[in-house]
Amino acid sequence: MSAAELAIAEKDLIKNGFLDIDIDPTMNLEEEIEKLKKEKNAIILAHYYQESDIQDIADYIGDSLQLSQMAANTEADVIVFAGVHFMAETAKMLSPNKKVILPDLKAGCSLADSCPPHLFKKFKDKYPDHVVVSYVNCTAELKTLTDICCTSSNARYVIDSIPEDKGIIFAPDKNLGAYLQKVTSRDMILWNGTCMVHEIFSHEKITKLKLRHPDAEFIAHPECEAHLLEIADYIGSTSGLLKYTQTSDSKKFIVATEAGIIHQMELKSPNKEFIPAPPNNTCACNDCPHMKRNTMEKLYLAMKYEMPEIILEDWVIEKGRVCIDRMLEISDKAGLNTNNKVS
Ligand code: 13P
Ligand code: SF4
Repeated sequence: MSAAELAIAEKDLIKNGFLDIDIDPTMNLEEEIEKLKKEKNAIILAHYYQESDIQDIADYIGDSLQLSQMAANTEADVIVFAGVHFMAETAKMLSPNKKVILPDLKAGCSLADSCPPHLFKKFKDKYPDHVVVSYVNCTAELKTLTDICCTSSNARYVIDSIPEDKGIIFAPDKNLGAYLQKVTSRDMILWNGTCMVHEIFSHEKITKLKLRHPDAEFIAHPECEAHLLEIADYIGSTSGLLKYTQTSDSKKFIVATEAGIIHQMELKSPNKEFIPAPPNNTCACNDCPHMKRNTMEKLYLAMKYEMPEIILEDWVIEKGRVCIDRMLEISDKAGLNTNNKVS
């Protein structure tokens, strides 16, 4: 098969969603991806939950807020999102004239899936005077039904920006919602959604680990269940957790969030020890199966063929981005600006 024929065949497979394509094993994927970046004026944005080889080749790495700030400000022509579907949709809404590529369109999110827009619309209609705050981990269509978006790093500021006399609906994560009720003392109506990764940690095994490592601090993401947050020494977003491990005097941490973040923790604090919090069964459940759908091979092919591409209807972009712009405005006012260029 000639190179041109191979390219047509590969493109056809990707178009039809068959992404597990064999790539020449002698190819240096890092080098090829670097070449494609320059050739196409593309940037790779990677979430902390990506595989370490993807994190290492990314131009920017960050939490959900940082990545949306980067997507809003980049001058690149092509944004390659090494993350999940809702993150790439957010990037498209913020940069509608750019091409946004997600290496695997099936990289979804259990939280986003737990809140179907047609059901949420009925729920929201029961509370017409309430302000709707949605965690950014939701579909683009859900954002069209939302007043203000938030991420785990700015959620407190978003809730605090809402007048005291206003009721609040919070969707889709009931754990983050319950945590916010506690720290802001605001009463909120919560949608009943959860993240499949953060609800799987075992209280019993974590308690035993804490006993075995009395010098370790237990740190947790606010998507974890309340009983775990109650025993945490620090609670924060992925970037918050990362920063905490750098500034804390402790040398050992039990980390209750997706295991991908540990790569950056080890890079930033090579002399500290990081123990992934164990799940309540024997599988590798603190790996997000959606985040981990992205591989170096899929990233390379996505950049080569500029697909799969995120396409959104104009009305979704126009209506959906209003709540994201409000969130970014509140974050700017709070000084939550970041620039996480890799290297
Ligand atoms: P943050 O990186 O914003 O903390 O979000 C965590 C997460 O679950 C993303 O899917
Ligand atoms: Fe969604 Fe949880 Fe995976 Fe994040 S870790 S993408 S919230 S399923």
